[in-house]
Amino acid sequence: MDVAAADKLTSEAAAVLFYDRLFDIAPQMRAMFPDDMIEQRRKLMAMLAGVVKGLGNLEQVLPAAGALAKRHVSYGAKAEHYPVVGAALLWTLEKGLADGWTPEVADAWGTAYGTLSGYMISEAYGRSQAGE
Ligand code: HEM
Repeated sequence: MDVAAADKLTSEAAAVLFYDRLFDIAPQMRAMFPDDMIEQRRKLMAMLAGVVKGLGNLEQVLPAAGALAKRHVSYGAKAEHYPVVGAALLWTLEKGLADGWTPEVADAWGTAYGTLSGYMISEAYGRSQAGE
């Protein structure tokens, strides 16, 4: 197996883990997503790769994040869903990274998700909801 194939497998497995965890801790969110989650998993991993790449280039990422947040209003997402998604994401990274999940890494991901979701919430619902 080449490296690209191995990467793809790992990323699909991580996406399965993420959505299983999300629907485990928040079963009421399952109905918001399509029955067929294959495309959704691909979008999630592409988006995460984009966030990691974009961290050093915030002025390019923020307009896209604002538009993404506004699309999420039509998906039925509410401000209070963001921490739930964040918890499932951090849990998945912890499982996936295993020994690589050090306090520094945990802190960096927590801060990155908190910053991104805080920005998305304030763009979609107004500043008053962010950080609550
Ligand atoms: C930082 C947080 C999040 C990111 C980066 C993110 C990213 C994405 C992306 C890239 C898509 C693909 C569609 C598009 O680009 O418009 C998507 C779809 C979706 N997301 Fe999120 N999301 C986040 C949080 C949430 C939250 C909190 C919810 C709450 C339920 C949610 C629910 C959904 C749903 C329901 C869809 C559409 C499924 C469909 O009908 O195709 N997302 N998300």
